[in-house]
Amino acid sequence: MFFVVFEGLDGSGKSSLMKRLESHLKNQGTDLIMTREPGGTTVGDEIREIILKKQAQPPSSRTELLLYQASRSQHVDLVIRPALAAKKWVLCDRFSASSIAFQGGGRGISLDQVVWLNNFSTDMLKPDLTVLLDLSVEDSKKRRTNRENQTATSEDRIEAEADSFHEKVRKGFLDQAHADPKNWLVLNAAHTPEELYQELVKNLTERQWLR
Ligand code: TYD
Repeated sequence: MFFVVFEGLDGSGKSSLMKRLESHLKNQGTDLIMTREPGGTTVGDEIREIILKKQAQPPSSRTELLLYQASRSQHVDLVIRPALAAKKWVLCDRFSASSIAFQGGGRGISLDQVVWLNNFSTDMLKPDLTVLLDLSVEDSKKRRTNRENQTATSEDRIEAEADSFHEKVRKGFLDQAHADPKNWLVLNAAHTPEELYQELVKNLTERQWLR
């Protein structure tokens, strides 16, 4: 079993790629769970609401970081570790790398502090692979606007940040990927969903993770 995390800017196509991998794994008879952060537990889902809603008195940067971390420790303890112990694959939409990219890169909190908190909240659990769907900020914005129009939803508090914030987030992801190429796979999210899926399957096959 493997712990695979999907990261990227909003609208980068994480969920459709995750769903394709989920079907592939299920078809070959592999046990798995799909989950996401913030959320994945009842406490985490409540924290998610607090973090993402627009409010008159939004959380400060440090509060925001701690809320993501509180959601994460609950998620690791109650969902992720038990699933891995039961020999299930875990496909997770965002994890510690998002805190480094968004709260470290985007908000400017010192990376040492974010890494320390990630280590604390995960109790040192690391993904076996993080798949980064790299997308330009411009494309991310276009896709978000399309999604909002189609689903009649509005952007959340993080999505509403300025382009300069999202540029720093993108760089925050790419820097992590470049620093640890063995445990990261960077895909160009401008490719079609089918191409992305084939690229992912090729990589997992090379790792001998697929049957
Ligand atoms: P979500 O709607 O799940 O976005 P997406 O579908 O793109 O994953 O909202 C989660 C938001 O929270 C997203 O903008 C990224 C942000 N985030 C952080 O800032 N730090 C974190 O540690 C995590 C896990 C997410």
